[in-house]
Amino acid sequence: MTQYGQIILDFSYLVAAILFVIGLKLLSKPESAKKGNLYAAGGMVLAMITTLILHKDAHGKGIPLENIILIVTVIAVGTVVGAVVARRVKMTAMPQLVSFYNATGGAASALVALMEFSNPENSSTLVTLLGLVIGSIAFSGSMIAYGKLDGWIKDWLSPAMKYINIIILLVVTALVAYLMVAGDPFMDAEVLVYILFGIALVYGVFFVMPIGGADMPVVISLLNSFTGIAAAMAGFIYSNQAMILGGIFVGAAGTILTVLMCRAMNRSLINVIIGAFGGGGAAKSDKEIGTIKEISLSDAAVLLNYTSKVVIVPGYGLAAAQAQHTCSELDKLLSESGVEVKYAIHPVAGRMPGHMNVLLAEADVPYEKLVEMDDINPELPNTDVVIVIGANDVVNPAALDDPSSPIYGMPIINAHEAKNIIVMKRGMGKGYAAIENYLFYDDKTRMLFGNAKETLQKLVSEIKSL
Ligand code: TAP
Repeated sequence: MTQYGQIILDFSYLVAAILFVIGLKLLSKPESAKKGNLYAAGGMVLAMITTLILHKDAHGKGIPLENIILIVTVIAVGTVVGAVVARRVKMTAMPQLVSFYNATGGAASALVALMEFSNPENSSTLVTLLGLVIGSIAFSGSMIAYGKLDGWIKDWLSPAMKYINIIILLVVTALVAYLMVAGDPFMDAEVLVYILFGIALVYGVFFVMPIGGADMPVVISLLNSFTGIAAAMAGFIYSNQAMILGGIFVGAAGTILTVLMCRAMNRSLINVIIGAFGGGGAAKSDKEIGTIKEISLSDAAVLLNYTSKVVIVPGYGLAAAQAQHTCSELDKLLSESGVEVKYAIHPVAGRMPGHMNVLLAEADVPYEKLVEMDDINPELPNTDVVIVIGANDVVNPAALDDPSSPIYGMPIINAHEAKNIIVMKRGMGKGYAAIENYLFYDDKTRMLFGNAKETLQKLVSEIKSL
Protein backbone atom coordinates (compact mmCIF):
# COMPACT_ATOMS: atom_id res chain seq x y z
CA MET A 1 0.00 0.00 0.00
CA THR A 2 2.83 2.35 0.98
CA GLN A 3 4.52 1.65 -2.33
CA TYR A 4 1.32 2.27 -4.32
CA GLY A 5 0.71 5.41 -2.28
CA GLN A 6 4.15 6.71 -3.27
CA ILE A 7 3.52 5.90 -6.93
CA ILE A 8 0.16 7.73 -6.87
CA LEU A 9 1.80 10.68 -5.07
CA ASP A 10 4.62 10.90 -7.64
CA PHE A 11 2.11 10.60 -10.47
CA SER A 12 -0.03 13.39 -9.00
CA TYR A 13 3.07 15.62 -8.91
CA LEU A 14 3.70 14.85 -12.58
CA VAL A 15 0.10 15.77 -13.43
CA ALA A 16 0.44 18.95 -11.31
CA ALA A 17 3.65 19.87 -13.18
CA ILE A 18 1.90 19.38 -16.55
CA LEU A 19 -1.00 21.56 -15.34
CA PHE A 20 1.50 24.29 -14.26
CA VAL A 21 3.09 24.25 -17.73
CA ILE A 22 -0.26 24.36 -19.56
CA GLY A 23 -1.40 27.10 -17.15
CA LEU A 24 1.70 29.20 -17.84
CA LYS A 25 1.25 28.77 -21.59
CA LEU A 26 -2.40 29.87 -21.40
CA LEU A 27 -1.44 32.85 -19.20
CA SER A 28 0.56 34.33 -22.09
CA LYS A 29 -2.63 35.53 -23.86
CA PRO A 30 -5.36 37.70 -22.27
CA GLU A 31 -8.19 35.62 -23.81
CA SER A 32 -6.93 32.38 -22.23
CA ALA A 33 -5.33 33.83 -19.06
CA LYS A 34 -8.31 33.07 -16.80
CA LYS A 35 -8.33 29.43 -17.91
CA GLY A 36 -4.53 29.29 -17.40
CA ASN A 37 -4.94 30.51 -13.84
CA LEU A 38 -7.52 27.78 -13.16
CA TYR A 39 -5.28 25.05 -14.64
CA ALA A 40 -2.29 26.11 -12.51
CA ALA A 41 -4.46 26.44 -9.38
CA GLY A 42 -5.95 23.00 -10.13
CA GLY A 43 -2.43 21.53 -10.27
CA MET A 44 -1.62 23.11 -6.90
CA VAL A 45 -4.85 21.85 -5.28
CA LEU A 46 -4.15 18.33 -6.60
CA ALA A 47 -0.58 18.39 -5.21
CA MET A 48 -1.82 19.65 -1.82
CA ILE A 49 -4.55 17.01 -1.49
CA THR A 50 -2.35 14.06 -2.48
CA THR A 51 0.45 15.29 -0.19
CA LEU A 52 -1.91 15.56 2.79
CA ILE A 53 -3.27 12.05 2.21
CA LEU A 54 -0.24 10.15 0.91
CA HIS A 55 2.92 11.82 2.23
CA LYS A 56 5.09 9.59 4.45
CA ASP A 57 8.11 10.68 6.47
CA ALA A 58 11.47 8.83 6.58
CA HIS A 59 9.98 6.31 9.06
CA GLY A 60 7.01 5.57 6.80
CA LYS A 61 4.54 7.53 8.98
CA GLY A 62 1.84 9.68 7.40
CA ILE A 63 0.90 13.22 8.51
CA PRO A 64 -0.81 13.00 11.98
CA LEU A 65 -4.56 13.73 11.88
CA GLU A 66 -4.27 16.74 14.21
CA ASN A 67 -1.71 18.30 11.84
CA ILE A 68 -3.98 17.63 8.86
CA ILE A 69 -6.86 19.36 10.68
CA LEU A 70 -4.58 22.31 11.48
CA ILE A 71 -3.30 22.57 7.90
CA VAL A 72 -6.79 22.33 6.36
CA THR A 73 -8.11 24.96 8.81
CA VAL A 74 -5.28 27.35 7.94
CA ILE A 75 -5.77 26.75 4.20
CA ALA A 76 -9.53 27.38 4.58
CA VAL A 77 -8.97 30.64 6.47
CA GLY A 78 -6.30 31.74 3.92
CA THR A 79 -8.58 30.88 0.99
CA VAL A 80 -11.51 32.88 2.40
CA VAL A 81 -9.34 35.90 3.28
CA GLY A 82 -7.56 35.74 -0.13
CA ALA A 83 -10.83 35.45 -2.06
CA VAL A 84 -12.50 38.33 -0.17
CA VAL A 85 -9.46 40.62 -0.50
CA ALA A 86 -8.97 39.82 -4.21
CA ARG A 87 -12.66 40.48 -4.95
CA ARG A 88 -12.81 43.73 -2.98
CA VAL A 89 -9.51 45.26 -4.06
CA LYS A 90 -9.79 48.17 -6.47
CA MET A 91 -8.16 47.66 -9.87
CA THR A 92 -5.81 50.56 -9.02
CA ALA A 93 -4.58 48.77 -5.90
CA MET A 94 -3.87 45.52 -7.78
CA PRO A 95 -0.09 46.13 -8.05
CA GLN A 96 0.09 46.62 -4.25
CA LEU A 97 -1.89 43.40 -3.71
CA VAL A 98 0.46 41.48 -6.02
CA SER A 99 3.44 42.82 -4.03
CA PHE A 100 1.74 41.84 -0.77
CA TYR A 101 1.03 38.29 -1.97
CA ASN A 102 4.62 38.06 -3.18
CA ALA A 103 5.76 39.10 0.30
CA THR A 104 3.66 36.35 1.93
CA GLY A 105 5.22 33.74 -0.40
CA GLY A 106 8.71 34.88 0.63
CA ALA A 107 7.74 34.87 4.32
CA ALA A 108 6.30 31.34 4.09
CA SER A 109 9.50 29.98 2.52
CA ALA A 110 11.68 31.81 5.07
CA LEU A 111 9.61 30.41 7.96
CA VAL A 112 9.85 26.87 6.57
CA ALA A 113 13.65 27.25 6.44
CA LEU A 114 13.75 28.77 9.94
CA MET A 115 11.74 25.87 11.40
CA GLU A 116 13.57 23.14 9.52
CA PHE A 117 17.13 24.35 10.17
CA SER A 118 17.34 22.52 13.49
CA ASN A 119 15.38 19.46 12.32
CA PRO A 120 17.94 16.59 12.63
CA GLU A 121 16.36 14.88 9.58
CA ASN A 122 17.11 17.91 7.39
CA SER A 123 20.50 17.34 5.78
CA SER A 124 20.35 20.19 3.24
CA THR A 125 21.88 23.03 5.30
CA LEU A 126 22.97 25.22 2.36
CA VAL A 127 19.58 25.01 0.65
CA THR A 128 17.86 25.79 3.98
CA LEU A 129 20.02 28.85 4.61
CA LEU A 130 19.60 30.10 1.02
CA GLY A 131 15.82 29.63 1.33
CA LEU A 132 15.88 31.59 4.59
CA VAL A 133 17.93 34.48 3.18
CA ILE A 134 16.18 34.76 -0.21
CA GLY A 135 12.70 34.32 1.31
CA SER A 136 13.38 36.99 3.95
CA ILE A 137 14.68 39.47 1.34
CA ALA A 138 11.63 38.74 -0.86
CA PHE A 139 9.33 39.35 2.13
CA SER A 140 10.71 42.63 3.49
CA GLY A 141 11.63 43.94 0.01
CA SER A 142 8.10 43.27 -1.30
CA MET A 143 6.55 44.97 1.75
CA ILE A 144 8.64 48.09 0.99
CA ALA A 145 7.63 47.83 -2.69
CA TYR A 146 4.00 47.61 -1.50
CA GLY A 147 4.43 50.83 0.53
CA LYS A 148 6.15 52.60 -2.37
CA LEU A 149 3.44 51.60 -4.86
CA ASP A 150 0.81 52.77 -2.37
CA GLY A 151 2.63 56.06 -2.03
CA TRP A 152 3.26 56.05 1.76
CA ILE A 153 6.93 55.05 1.53
CA LYS A 154 9.18 57.47 -0.33
CA ASP A 155 12.55 56.70 -1.95
CA TRP A 156 15.43 56.90 0.48
CA LEU A 157 18.13 58.24 -1.74
CA SER A 158 21.60 58.29 -0.27
CA PRO A 159 24.82 57.29 -2.03
CA ALA A 160 25.90 55.71 1.30
CA MET A 161 23.19 53.04 0.83
CA LYS A 162 25.28 51.39 -1.87
CA TYR A 163 28.12 50.76 0.59
CA ILE A 164 25.81 49.81 3.48
CA ASN A 165 24.12 47.24 1.23
CA ILE A 166 27.41 45.74 0.10
CA ILE A 167 28.51 45.42 3.76
CA ILE A 168 25.21 43.75 4.77
CA LEU A 169 25.51 41.35 1.83
CA LEU A 170 29.07 40.46 2.87
CA VAL A 171 27.91 39.84 6.48
CA VAL A 172 25.07 37.59 5.22
CA THR A 173 27.48 35.61 3.01
CA ALA A 174 29.98 35.26 5.90
CA LEU A 175 27.22 34.04 8.28
CA VAL A 176 25.97 31.47 5.77
CA ALA A 177 29.54 30.25 5.15
CA TYR A 178 30.22 30.09 8.90
CA LEU A 179 27.03 28.11 9.61
CA MET A 180 27.93 25.76 6.77
CA VAL A 181 31.48 24.92 7.73
CA ALA A 182 31.97 25.61 11.43
CA GLY A 183 28.74 25.00 13.27
CA ASP A 184 28.96 27.28 16.29
CA PRO A 185 31.27 26.60 19.18
CA PHE A 186 30.33 29.83 21.05
CA MET A 187 26.59 30.00 20.91
CA ASP A 188 23.69 27.96 19.81
CA ALA A 189 23.66 27.76 15.98
CA GLU A 190 19.90 28.42 16.11
CA VAL A 191 20.57 31.87 17.60
CA LEU A 192 22.89 32.61 14.71
CA VAL A 193 20.20 31.52 12.25
CA TYR A 194 17.73 33.98 13.84
CA ILE A 195 20.38 36.71 13.53
CA LEU A 196 20.80 35.78 9.85
CA PHE A 197 17.01 35.98 9.44
CA GLY A 198 16.99 39.48 10.98
CA ILE A 199 19.88 40.74 8.86
CA ALA A 200 18.31 39.34 5.67
CA LEU A 201 15.06 41.17 6.52
CA VAL A 202 17.00 44.42 6.99
CA TYR A 203 18.80 43.83 3.68
CA GLY A 204 15.43 43.45 1.88
CA VAL A 205 14.39 46.88 3.22
CA PHE A 206 17.68 48.59 2.37
CA PHE A 207 17.81 46.93 -1.03
CA VAL A 208 14.47 48.36 -2.20
CA MET A 209 14.50 51.74 -0.35
CA PRO A 210 16.96 53.58 -2.63
CA ILE A 211 15.60 52.26 -5.92
CA GLY A 212 14.12 55.26 -7.59
CA GLY A 213 10.75 55.80 -9.22
CA ALA A 214 10.94 54.54 -12.76
CA ASP A 215 13.15 51.56 -11.86
CA MET A 216 10.49 49.94 -9.64
CA PRO A 217 9.18 47.56 -12.37
CA VAL A 218 12.57 45.84 -12.48
CA VAL A 219 12.68 45.43 -8.69
CA ILE A 220 9.12 44.09 -8.50
CA SER A 221 9.81 41.37 -11.06
CA LEU A 222 13.15 40.59 -9.38
CA LEU A 223 11.44 40.15 -5.99
CA ASN A 224 8.91 37.92 -7.72
CA SER A 225 11.69 35.65 -8.94
CA PHE A 226 13.25 35.65 -5.42
CA THR A 227 9.96 34.33 -3.98
CA GLY A 228 9.90 31.54 -6.57
CA ILE A 229 13.51 30.57 -5.85
CA ALA A 230 12.86 30.60 -2.08
CA ALA A 231 9.81 28.35 -2.57
CA ALA A 232 11.94 25.96 -4.67
CA MET A 233 14.51 25.87 -1.84
CA ALA A 234 11.72 25.00 0.62
CA GLY A 235 10.71 22.23 -1.82
CA PHE A 236 14.28 20.86 -1.75
CA ILE A 237 14.18 20.72 2.08
CA TYR A 238 11.19 18.35 1.88
CA SER A 239 12.28 16.70 -1.42
CA ASN A 240 8.85 17.68 -2.71
CA GLN A 241 8.85 17.80 -6.52
CA ALA A 242 5.63 19.81 -6.82
CA MET A 243 7.02 22.56 -4.56
CA ILE A 244 10.37 22.52 -6.36
CA LEU A 245 8.75 22.74 -9.77
CA GLY A 246 6.21 25.40 -8.75
CA GLY A 247 9.03 27.48 -7.25
CA ILE A 248 11.27 27.07 -10.28
CA PHE A 249 8.47 28.10 -12.64
CA VAL A 250 7.81 31.27 -10.63
CA GLY A 251 11.55 31.93 -10.29
CA ALA A 252 12.16 31.44 -14.03
CA ALA A 253 9.12 33.53 -15.05
CA GLY A 254 10.21 36.31 -12.66
CA THR A 255 13.77 36.20 -14.02
CA ILE A 256 12.58 36.41 -17.64
CA LEU A 257 10.30 39.32 -16.68
CA THR A 258 13.22 41.05 -14.93
CA VAL A 259 15.31 40.77 -18.11
CA LEU A 260 12.40 42.09 -20.22
CA MET A 261 11.83 45.00 -17.79
CA CYS A 262 15.55 45.86 -17.86
CA ARG A 263 15.38 45.88 -21.66
CA ALA A 264 12.24 48.04 -21.57
CA MET A 265 14.08 50.54 -19.33
CA ASN A 266 17.33 50.16 -21.30
CA ARG A 267 19.16 49.49 -18.01
CA SER A 268 21.37 46.70 -16.78
CA LEU A 269 20.25 44.90 -13.62
CA ILE A 270 23.44 45.87 -11.79
CA ASN A 271 22.86 49.49 -12.77
CA VAL A 272 19.34 49.40 -11.33
CA ILE A 273 20.41 47.73 -8.07
CA ILE A 274 23.65 49.54 -7.35
CA GLY A 275 23.68 52.57 -9.61
CA ALA A 276 20.21 54.04 -9.25
CA PHE A 277 19.82 56.88 -6.86
CA GLY A 278 17.01 58.53 -8.85
CA GLY A 279 16.43 62.16 -8.01
CA GLY A 280 15.34 64.79 -10.46
CA GLY A 281 17.77 66.17 -12.96
CA ALA A 282 18.25 69.92 -12.91
CA ALA A 283 14.97 71.35 -14.11
CA LYS A 284 15.10 73.74 -17.01
CA SER A 285 13.62 77.15 -16.31
CA ASP A 286 10.04 77.87 -17.40
CA LYS A 287 11.35 80.20 -20.07
CA GLU A 288 13.37 77.40 -21.62
CA ILE A 289 10.56 74.88 -21.56
CA GLY A 290 7.79 77.12 -22.92
CA THR A 291 4.22 77.58 -21.83
CA ILE A 292 1.23 75.36 -21.25
CA LYS A 293 -1.63 75.60 -23.76
CA GLU A 294 -5.10 74.25 -23.08
CA ILE A 295 -7.74 72.96 -25.48
CA SER A 296 -11.50 73.24 -24.99
CA LEU A 297 -13.70 70.15 -25.07
CA SER A 298 -15.45 71.31 -28.24
CA ASP A 299 -12.16 71.97 -30.06
CA ALA A 300 -10.84 68.57 -28.95
CA ALA A 301 -14.06 66.88 -30.18
CA VAL A 302 -13.80 68.54 -33.60
CA LEU A 303 -10.07 67.77 -33.91
CA LEU A 304 -10.63 64.10 -33.09
CA ASN A 305 -13.79 63.56 -35.12
CA TYR A 306 -12.52 65.04 -38.37
CA THR A 307 -9.15 63.40 -38.51
CA SER A 308 -7.98 60.09 -39.97
CA LYS A 309 -5.57 58.57 -37.47
CA VAL A 310 -5.59 58.70 -33.66
CA VAL A 311 -3.24 56.92 -31.26
CA ILE A 312 -4.21 56.69 -27.57
CA VAL A 313 -1.34 56.44 -25.05
CA PRO A 314 -2.79 55.03 -21.81
CA GLY A 315 -0.94 55.38 -18.51
CA TYR A 316 -1.37 55.00 -14.78
CA GLY A 317 -3.94 57.87 -14.63
CA LEU A 318 -6.32 55.88 -16.87
CA ALA A 319 -6.25 53.05 -14.31
CA ALA A 320 -6.50 55.47 -11.36
CA ALA A 321 -9.58 57.11 -12.88
CA GLN A 322 -11.04 53.73 -13.91
CA ALA A 323 -11.67 55.35 -17.27
CA GLN A 324 -11.02 52.29 -19.46
CA HIS A 325 -14.70 51.76 -20.40
CA THR A 326 -15.22 55.42 -21.34
CA CYS A 327 -11.95 55.30 -23.28
CA SER A 328 -13.23 52.28 -25.19
CA GLU A 329 -16.50 54.18 -25.86
CA LEU A 330 -14.53 57.08 -27.35
CA ASP A 331 -12.57 54.61 -29.48
CA LYS A 332 -15.81 52.99 -30.79
CA LEU A 333 -17.35 56.38 -31.54
CA LEU A 334 -14.32 57.58 -33.49
CA SER A 335 -13.92 54.24 -35.29
CA GLU A 336 -17.59 54.43 -36.39
CA SER A 337 -16.87 57.83 -37.97
CA GLY A 338 -14.02 56.26 -39.95
CA VAL A 339 -11.11 57.32 -37.75
CA GLU A 340 -8.35 54.73 -37.39
CA VAL A 341 -7.75 54.28 -33.63
CA LYS A 342 -4.83 52.41 -32.06
CA TYR A 343 -3.36 52.19 -28.55
CA ALA A 344 0.36 52.63 -27.87
CA ILE A 345 1.44 50.27 -25.09
CA HIS A 346 4.62 51.03 -23.15
CA PRO A 347 6.00 48.00 -21.28
CA VAL A 348 6.15 49.84 -17.93
CA ALA A 349 3.03 52.01 -18.25
CA GLY A 350 0.91 51.82 -15.09
CA ARG A 351 2.15 50.06 -11.98
CA MET A 352 2.51 46.40 -12.91
CA PRO A 353 3.69 44.42 -15.93
CA GLY A 354 0.88 44.21 -18.48
CA HIS A 355 -1.23 46.72 -16.50
CA MET A 356 -2.57 48.52 -19.59
CA ASN A 357 -3.27 45.27 -21.46
CA VAL A 358 -5.33 43.93 -18.55
CA LEU A 359 -7.14 47.24 -18.08
CA LEU A 360 -8.10 47.62 -21.74
CA ALA A 361 -9.00 43.92 -22.10
CA GLU A 362 -11.45 44.48 -19.22
CA ALA A 363 -13.12 47.18 -21.35
CA ASP A 364 -13.27 44.79 -24.34
CA VAL A 365 -10.82 46.77 -26.47
CA PRO A 366 -9.87 44.38 -29.31
CA TYR A 367 -6.40 43.01 -28.65
CA GLU A 368 -5.23 43.79 -32.23
CA LYS A 369 -5.64 47.51 -31.46
CA LEU A 370 -2.99 47.37 -28.72
CA VAL A 371 0.37 48.04 -30.37
CA GLU A 372 3.68 47.58 -28.57
CA MET A 373 6.01 50.59 -28.25
CA ASP A 374 8.57 49.46 -30.86
CA ASP A 375 5.85 48.86 -33.45
CA ILE A 376 3.84 52.05 -32.86
CA ASN A 377 6.77 54.51 -32.69
CA PRO A 378 7.52 54.47 -36.47
CA GLU A 379 3.81 55.26 -37.10
CA LEU A 380 3.68 58.33 -34.84
CA PRO A 381 5.11 60.96 -37.25
CA ASN A 382 2.15 60.11 -39.55
CA THR A 383 -0.41 60.19 -36.73
CA ASP A 384 -2.80 63.15 -36.74
CA VAL A 385 -3.59 63.16 -33.02
CA VAL A 386 -2.01 61.39 -30.08
CA ILE A 387 -4.20 61.40 -26.92
CA VAL A 388 -2.13 60.86 -23.81
CA ILE A 389 -4.54 59.65 -21.09
CA GLY A 390 -3.00 59.69 -17.60
CA ALA A 391 0.46 58.81 -18.91
CA ASN A 392 3.49 60.87 -18.02
CA ASP A 393 6.91 59.19 -17.61
CA VAL A 394 6.37 56.87 -20.57
CA VAL A 395 6.01 59.86 -22.96
CA ASN A 396 8.68 62.09 -21.37
CA PRO A 397 11.18 63.19 -24.06
CA ALA A 398 13.75 63.88 -21.30
CA ALA A 399 14.46 60.14 -21.56
CA LEU A 400 15.80 60.82 -25.06
CA ASP A 401 17.58 64.14 -24.80
CA ASP A 402 18.32 65.10 -21.19
CA PRO A 403 21.38 63.19 -19.89
CA SER A 404 20.82 64.68 -16.42
CA SER A 405 17.38 63.06 -16.17
CA PRO A 406 17.01 59.93 -14.01
CA ILE A 407 15.02 58.30 -16.82
CA TYR A 408 17.60 59.17 -19.51
CA GLY A 409 18.06 56.19 -21.82
CA MET A 410 14.61 54.66 -21.17
CA PRO A 411 12.79 54.06 -24.48
CA ILE A 412 9.52 56.03 -24.62
CA ILE A 413 6.40 56.28 -26.76
CA ASN A 414 7.43 59.11 -29.11
CA ALA A 415 4.17 61.04 -28.68
CA HIS A 416 6.05 64.30 -29.38
CA GLU A 417 6.51 63.20 -33.02
CA ALA A 418 2.76 63.21 -33.77
CA LYS A 419 1.16 66.16 -35.59
CA ASN A 420 -1.06 67.07 -32.60
CA ILE A 421 -0.91 65.98 -28.99
CA ILE A 422 -3.77 66.16 -26.49
CA VAL A 423 -2.81 65.38 -22.88
CA MET A 424 -5.54 64.44 -20.39
CA LYS A 425 -4.61 64.73 -16.72
CA ARG A 426 -5.95 66.46 -13.63
CA GLY A 427 -3.31 69.18 -13.32
CA MET A 428 0.44 69.55 -13.57
CA GLY A 429 1.10 66.59 -11.23
CA LYS A 430 4.30 64.69 -11.92
CA GLY A 431 4.53 61.00 -12.86
CA TYR A 432 5.96 58.14 -10.78
CA ALA A 433 9.56 59.25 -11.42
CA ALA A 434 8.63 62.69 -9.99
CA ILE A 435 10.21 64.71 -12.80
CA GLU A 436 9.12 67.49 -15.13
CA ASN A 437 7.76 66.48 -18.55
CA TYR A 438 8.66 68.83 -21.42
CA LEU A 439 6.09 67.20 -23.69
CA PHE A 440 3.39 69.23 -21.88
CA TYR A 441 5.15 72.46 -22.96
CA ASP A 442 5.61 71.36 -26.58
CA ASP A 443 4.19 73.71 -29.26
CA LYS A 444 2.03 70.89 -30.64
CA THR A 445 0.66 69.88 -27.22
CA ARG A 446 -2.64 71.02 -25.76
CA MET A 447 -3.79 70.08 -22.27
CA LEU A 448 -7.30 68.87 -21.42
CA PHE A 449 -7.34 69.10 -17.62
CA GLY A 450 -9.60 67.05 -15.36
CA ASN A 451 -10.16 63.55 -14.04
CA ALA A 452 -9.66 61.21 -17.03
CA LYS A 453 -13.06 59.51 -16.67
CA GLU A 454 -15.09 62.72 -16.41
CA THR A 455 -13.13 64.39 -19.22
CA LEU A 456 -13.60 61.37 -21.48
CA GLN A 457 -17.34 61.26 -20.67
CA LYS A 458 -17.70 64.95 -21.58
CA LEU A 459 -15.65 64.43 -24.74
CA VAL A 460 -17.83 61.49 -25.80
CA SER A 461 -21.02 63.59 -25.33
CA GLU A 462 -19.41 66.48 -27.22
CA ILE A 463 -18.52 64.23 -30.17
CA LYS A 464 -22.03 62.71 -30.15
CA SER A 465 -23.50 66.21 -30.41
CA LEU A 466 -21.42 67.17 -33.46
P1 TAP B 1 2.98 58.09 -14.44
O1 TAP B 1 4.29 58.55 -14.94
O2 TAP B 1 2.92 57.54 -13.07
O3 TAP B 1 1.97 59.33 -14.57
C1 TAP B 1 0.62 59.18 -14.31
C2 TAP B 1 -0.05 60.53 -14.52
O4 TAP B 1 -1.44 60.30 -14.44
C3 TAP B 1 0.31 61.56 -13.48
O5 TAP B 1 1.19 62.52 -13.98
C4 TAP B 1 -1.04 62.15 -13.03
O6 TAP B 1 -1.02 63.57 -13.27
C5 TAP B 1 -2.05 61.47 -13.95
N1 TAP B 1 -3.25 61.04 -13.23
C6 TAP B 1 -3.33 60.43 -12.03
N2 TAP B 1 -4.61 60.21 -11.69
C7 TAP B 1 -5.36 60.69 -12.71
C8 TAP B 1 -6.75 60.76 -12.96
N3 TAP B 1 -7.65 60.29 -12.08
N4 TAP B 1 -7.17 61.31 -14.12
C9 TAP B 1 -6.28 61.80 -15.01
N5 TAP B 1 -4.95 61.76 -14.83
C10 TAP B 1 -4.50 61.22 -13.69
O7 TAP B 1 2.34 56.99 -15.41
P2 TAP B 1 2.94 56.21 -16.65
O8 TAP B 1 3.26 57.17 -17.75
O9 TAP B 1 1.99 55.10 -16.90
O10 TAP B 1 4.33 55.67 -16.15
C11 TAP B 1 4.45 54.60 -15.24
C12 TAP B 1 5.54 54.93 -14.23
O11 TAP B 1 5.41 54.04 -13.10
C13 TAP B 1 6.94 54.74 -14.79
O12 TAP B 1 7.83 55.64 -14.21
C14 TAP B 1 7.24 53.30 -14.35
O13 TAP B 1 8.61 53.02 -14.31
C15 TAP B 1 6.63 53.31 -12.96
N6 TAP B 1 6.31 51.97 -12.45
C16 TAP B 1 5.83 51.05 -13.30
C17 TAP B 1 5.58 49.77 -12.83
C18 TAP B 1 5.14 48.75 -13.84
S1 TAP B 1 5.60 47.24 -13.67
N7 TAP B 1 4.41 49.10 -14.85
C19 TAP B 1 5.76 49.45 -11.48
C20 TAP B 1 6.20 50.46 -10.60
C21 TAP B 1 6.48 51.73 -11.11
P3 TAP B 1 -2.03 64.53 -12.44
O14 TAP B 1 -1.73 64.30 -11.00
O15 TAP B 1 -1.72 65.91 -12.92
O16 TAP B 1 -3.41 64.08 -12.81
